[in-house]
Amino acid sequence: MTFQIAVNGVDHAVDVDGDTPLLWVLRDVLGLTGTKFGCGAGLCGACTVHIDGSPTRSCQTPVDSIGKSKVTTIEAIGATAPGAKIQKAWLDLEVVQCGYCQSGQIMSASALLASNPQPTDSDIDDAMSGNICRCGTYGRIRAAIKQAASGERG
Ligand code: FES
Ligand code: FES
Repeated sequence: MTFQIAVNGVDHAVDVDGDTPLLWVLRDVLGLTGTKFGCGAGLCGACTVHIDGSPTRSCQTPVDSIGKSKVTTIEAIGATAPGAKIQKAWLDLEVVQCGYCQSGQIMSASALLASNPQPTDSDIDDAMSGNICRCGTYGRIRAAIKQAASGERG
């Protein structure tokens, strides 16, 4: 069946089964491979995208549930003001280690900053707790979110 989905401001017609996870539509049909597969079970956050601005696990989101909602992925988050601040802070503080989890981390952090420009430590913990990093970059992630929130430009 063909579904119309809006991804990063572009409308796409995709011919897939309705229960196909958005993650696989992004990666395999649209070639947007910045969104990663980690657990496939909603437990790690590697596949996080925004749906109408809300951080969402794309591995748990069937394509037929999206409708007219707007999907944003790591490939386009830098075009938003919160996303640009987060990405700059990530670079300034050299957050990334192996990198595998970082698309999802940046998507969750950008959504946090968009909804809460001055998050407390507890707000950060709540927003980021579903994003697992096996390299243990949590300390730098928190510092980078604080730098982005402070408006520092490095
Ligand atoms: S791959 Fe979706 S939460 Fe882990
Ligand atoms: S940077 Fe390696 S898993 Fe997070």
